[in-house]
Amino acid sequence: MDKQAPLSIVVLAAGQGTRMRSRLPKVLHPIGGKPMLAHVLETALALEPAATYIVHGHSGERVREALANPGAGAVNWIEQAEQLGTGHAVDQAMAGVPDTHTVLVLYGDVPLISVSTLQHLVAASRGALGLLVAHLENPAGYGRIVRNENGAVLHIVEDQDASALERRIKEGNTGMLAVNAAQLRRWLAALGNDNAQGEYYLTDIIAMAVAQGVPVNTVYPDGLDEILGVNNKRQLAQVERDYQRRQALVLLAAGVSLCDPQRIDVRGQLQTGLDVSIDVNVVFEGRVVLGDDVRIGAHCVIRDAEIGDGCEILPMCVIEGAVIAAGSRIGPFARLRPGTRLAPHTHVGNFVEIKNTNVGEGSKINHLSYVGDADVGREVNIGAGSITCNYDGANKHRTVIGDRAFIGSDTQLIAPVSVGDDATIGAGSTITRDTPAGALTLSRAKQETREGWKRPRKNK
Ligand code: UD1
Ligand code: CA
Repeated sequence: MDKQAPLSIVVLAAGQGTRMRSRLPKVLHPIGGKPMLAHVLETALALEPAATYIVHGHSGERVREALANPGAGAVNWIEQAEQLGTGHAVDQAMAGVPDTHTVLVLYGDVPLISVSTLQHLVAASRGALGLLVAHLENPAGYGRIVRNENGAVLHIVEDQDASALERRIKEGNTGMLAVNAAQLRRWLAALGNDNAQGEYYLTDIIAMAVAQGVPVNTVYPDGLDEILGVNNKRQLAQVERDYQRRQALVLLAAGVSLCDPQRIDVRGQLQTGLDVSIDVNVVFEGRVVLGDDVRIGAHCVIRDAEIGDGCEILPMCVIEGAVIAAGSRIGPFARLRPGTRLAPHTHVGNFVEIKNTNVGEGSKINHLSYVGDADVGREVNIGAGSITCNYDGANKHRTVIGDRAFIGSDTQLIAPVSVGDDATIGAGSTITRDTPAGALTLSRAKQETREGWKRPRKNK
């Protein structure tokens, strides 16, 4: 058998998506935090096609902008000004496709289709037409696969054109197919639109293939969720759940302990070490890396972060753009914002907010603090309620705290300011000038007591 022909992939994405009831073009609605169309493109590119075409409608500009990333560089954008049907849509892309190529048709709103299923489909199209079909519990809305008494495919009848008998067929057309470009071009040119929807149906090429003795090979997807299309928010939510279930299974297979695989959301890439455990309702976004033995408590939101070996994140933390080194303990109720870098064995406790700050090894910020734009040394203790006053209303200024400094509770450090190594700041101080190493500095009004003082009384 000859080698597989080069692949041209055509992704249909011109549909309006009116049933989404949204201003966002349908194919840009996210699954796992990424536009549906980006999922399809990623899968398409994994097949190493010679060319990829996206057939778009009116909102093409927006779609193109949203997908303007390096991975999508090799994509040809084709406008289908009027949506005259799937056959018409594919035809728009055919002008540039060489006769020898295999054309693979995908849908921009069927985001979970897998590389493996598509490889089977393409393989089935050698010297034939490969058609991706599925046995469906409820095939309503789908084109039905009509076979003869020997089981050979005869044609596809669209739901709206089907007789009552044909509607009982449970084998449905997924819409995805693969076939030689020269044949496809010829068949597309012969399509008519004399049907219930007045559209040029891509599915009518099946009968043409059969008439010309081209075998039609049906292929079934590895999993049924792969072929689910999104036309409304209900289907979007369902596909999202399917996607998240898959992500959870991948994590479990990698040895991650999930308290409940149904209650984790991964909207991006999550990389995990050994013996990681994740409690319920944790959301991961962007690129998150968890080292070995990391424990994540319930209800955390973690985005674009690196969390080192043996770290424990207690419940209810929000972590974004932070790097947390090994053996640190964060939360409960901590907020780490972008630019937070914590050295090994740091402790950050409840109601502490940190941003754009380096914290040295073994330092502790345990209660009710705001530390922004600061460099905190090693083994520093920042007492409850202490804050950096980093913003003067116009500019941000840095606070530098030396190694082993002890910042008493409820201290305000008015930046720019520095605290020397081994310095102690008395509780309740407002620090406006640099404080020397090794000494106690405090700024506190003297306490006085007035004996015999009476509280004011209400006038009668
Ligand atoms: C199509 C199939 C049907 C199959 C079903 C699976 C045809 C005629 N029918 O029906 O057999 O069971 O998909 O979901 O092919 N699109 C364009 N331009 C157009 C028309 C459609 O880009 O002019 C795109 C849509 O955006 C969508 C895809 O093609 O992504 C399918 O179109 P849709 O109208 O949803 O097809 P169905 O009627 O569901
Ligand atoms: Ca339709």
